[in-house]
Amino acid sequence: MTLALTIAGGLPTALAAESPVHVSGNLQANAPGPTVNADVFGQFAEDLGHSIYGGVWVGPTSPIPNTDGYRTDVLNALRALKVPVVRWPGGCFADRYDWRDGVGPASQRPITENVSWGGVDDDNSFGTPEYMKFMDMIGARTFVAGNLGSEPPSELAHWVDYMTSTSHSKWAQMRRRDGREQPWRLNYLGVGNELWGCGGNMTADYAADLLRRYVTFVHVDGPQHTDIIGPGANGDDSEWIDTLMKKAGRFMDGIGLHYYTIPGGWKDMQSATDFDESGWIQTLSESLFMDTLVSKDSAIMDKYDPDKRVSLVVDEWGTWFKPEPGSNPSFLYQQNTLRDGMVAALTLNIFVHHADRVRMANIAQMVNVLQAMILTEGDKMVLTPTYYVFKMFIPYQGAKALPLKLETPQYTLGKYNVPSVQGSAVRGKDGHVHMVLVNLDPNRPAQVLMHVEGLSAHQVSGEVLTAPHMNARNTFANPDAIKPAAFGGAQVDGSSLKATLPSKSIVILNVD
Ligand code: AHR
Repeated sequence: MTLALTIAGGLPTALAAESPVHVSGNLQANAPGPTVNADVFGQFAEDLGHSIYGGVWVGPTSPIPNTDGYRTDVLNALRALKVPVVRWPGGCFADRYDWRDGVGPASQRPITENVSWGGVDDDNSFGTPEYMKFMDMIGARTFVAGNLGSEPPSELAHWVDYMTSTSHSKWAQMRRRDGREQPWRLNYLGVGNELWGCGGNMTADYAADLLRRYVTFVHVDGPQHTDIIGPGANGDDSEWIDTLMKKAGRFMDGIGLHYYTIPGGWKDMQSATDFDESGWIQTLSESLFMDTLVSKDSAIMDKYDPDKRVSLVVDEWGTWFKPEPGSNPSFLYQQNTLRDGMVAALTLNIFVHHADRVRMANIAQMVNVLQAMILTEGDKMVLTPTYYVFKMFIPYQGAKALPLKLETPQYTLGKYNVPSVQGSAVRGKDGHVHMVLVNLDPNRPAQVLMHVEGLSAHQVSGEVLTAPHMNARNTFANPDAIKPAAFGGAQVDGSSLKATLPSKSIVILNVD
């Protein structure tokens, strides 16, 4: 047979492709660690392209089925995802936004130019009241990104007053005229976005001084507490984190961090869908850099905040590829493949490992922008592999992180070298142990043999997300090309758990 004849020159591809890698692991089910804050699974919806307009908000007179102006299909999909928090209105957009354009009767709101994203007209029909109602409709916490870059502190103070004041100030009265008697819940207030770039091209020292100044004038009224999220660093910029923590640490409850996976960088951006195995491993490898980054920044924060009062908030992360051919390049619309799903799972696992410091993260972005959960076209909607990964992680919301160690071979191609298998585990609020394991190797299954301490397990169930091709994706013509399926490849017997992960797959196991 032809296979046997070729062995002298190495394993024939067909045979090698099927031989599994062997991974061993140890899970301490009896050693619950920090709580995995549900907001780590948060979203970001900027006033950018069709993220809000067309993606979430179509207005009450639209022929697209809607509930008070919000797309009904998108609302339902987000509810099923149990979205914990949504950051809005930017991004770069936030530091140009005048909140007063987005309040009052919709018919009287001005048209403004969205200078940050394509110079398109913005009718401001989705403003603060619509955002707050949206959060209420999907049951998510609020994260408003304030403008520090181009408006004085008084404007931020007035906006917060409008949202939260129980008094009869003119701003609170304005809110009442907008139909809302009670203050809204403002869970998080971002103060400035990317101040090192689109937020004002500032130095870290200057940004720290401004943050102190702006925060001084913000007054959140009533019994509610709002966490202040300081302006984050640009990826691997430890100095930024150091300076902000040193000079302004006590003025924040969280500090931001933005890190995008951009294989090829800005100059040689890659296609979201058209890639080979080298594009696969490069993307996964670059997404794993999040672990290095978070470890580094956490260590810096430990110097100034050993009690970990201040959270590291990864308020922008995800893949950034070339815009979809034919789309407006300023709208940052890209398709989403199994590779994006892998990036999502790897990154969320990293956050779980750093649950003591990373207490919120917001993937960029929720609908129709960058690594989206949902894509829309007219009245059609598709759910992406990234959506399904977030769905698989639902049992992780509010769970306790469990120590998980994996002894895994490396998957290597060219200059890239990544673990074959990566994972995390938690004890869920439901009392069960949940584990997300990712097989990064696109060619070989992985046999995982795990010793589980402190649990005499008798049953395991699970789900798997995979596809025959690395670039599998859901399209408007074929919306169900890739979705999770029941997983029957695991067995458990007392403290011994075995699972065979298909190549290029994400598996969640639920163990009792
Ligand atoms: O998410 C798109 C943009 O990326 C955001 O507006 C900005 O903060 C970042 O550079």
